[in-house]
Amino acid sequence: MTSLAAAPSPSVRVRAPGKINLSLRVGPVEEDGYHPLVTVFQAVALHEEVTATEVADGVGLSLTVDGPQADRVPLDASNLAWRAAEVLAEHVGTSPDVALHLSKGVPVAGGMAGGSADAAATLVACDALWGAGLSRAELSGLAARLGSDVPFALLGHTAVGTGRGHLLTPAMSRGEFHWAFATRDEGLSTPAVYGRFDEMYGTTAPPVDVADDNGLMQALRAGDPTALGAALHNDLEPAALELRPELERTLEIARNGGALGAMVSGSGPTVAALARSRQHALAIAATWTAEDAADAVWCTTAPAAGARVL
Ligand code: C5P
Repeated sequence: MTSLAAAPSPSVRVRAPGKINLSLRVGPVEEDGYHPLVTVFQAVALHEEVTATEVADGVGLSLTVDGPQADRVPLDASNLAWRAAEVLAEHVGTSPDVALHLSKGVPVAGGMAGGSADAAATLVACDALWGAGLSRAELSGLAARLGSDVPFALLGHTAVGTGRGHLLTPAMSRGEFHWAFATRDEGLSTPAVYGRFDEMYGTTAPPVDVADDNGLMQALRAGDPTALGAALHNDLEPAALELRPELERTLEIARNGGALGAMVSGSGPTVAALARSRQHALAIAATWTAEDAADAVWCTTAPAAGARVL
């Protein structure tokens, strides 16, 4: 007897990681409004999952979301995943007929590139669903058009980013590092933080230099968390702290709790603390919660792999 049940629509599920900038060095703003960067990215084991499901021709794009902060995610063309499907469809000459579902595991609007991970995962998922067969280099080129952090979400692991942060060179990192993150419900706009940076430093910010991260790169190669903690660096931190002074206390609590290093993550408002162990990360997170210095806390490890089909 043959089943009359309709076969499920083909779908592809892809996972992509969030990131931290172990170092973020920002040069003076250029004419296009962007800042030249030298940054050391490391992917963290907090992931976004994107499921791309085939729909009938002409149906177009749809987007649904679940996860702890799903209510804070736009479900229209302002979502980077939506734009990723459109950009890929245009590139391969098809129409973007696909149902996208995002399962959010990276803090929303926290400076950890969750939206960029969605975009990277969507590129990989739609490429597979539509049988486009683009190379990683082609996907990376499309990713850079979507946002400065999207190419790194494709690549994962550890990499030095230059240009806008989108030109990547993989870097070596030994072992596993333990992190605690304190997030806030109210996000911080990346352009606003860069704008504050411009007001604070104008065109006097010194040019960025990859050599300034030599110590950090050595700490990564050695797998030395103490040296890494001492080398963490974020040029956007003063601007983020001016916009959100309450983050100072979150940093101080982490330092008093023995964090090997603590900093604002990317453009914030997430605060990242490097811990000695998983237990130590949990203890720092518990203190943030007890002292009401975060709206949510997260513990994880780094590095993690880039976007891949599950
Ligand atoms: O590239 P992306 O869309 O992620 O950048 C968001 C905003 O962050 C930009 O509009 C710009 O204001 C700022 N930005 C910057 N310099 C960079 C990256 C981002 O000024 N290298």
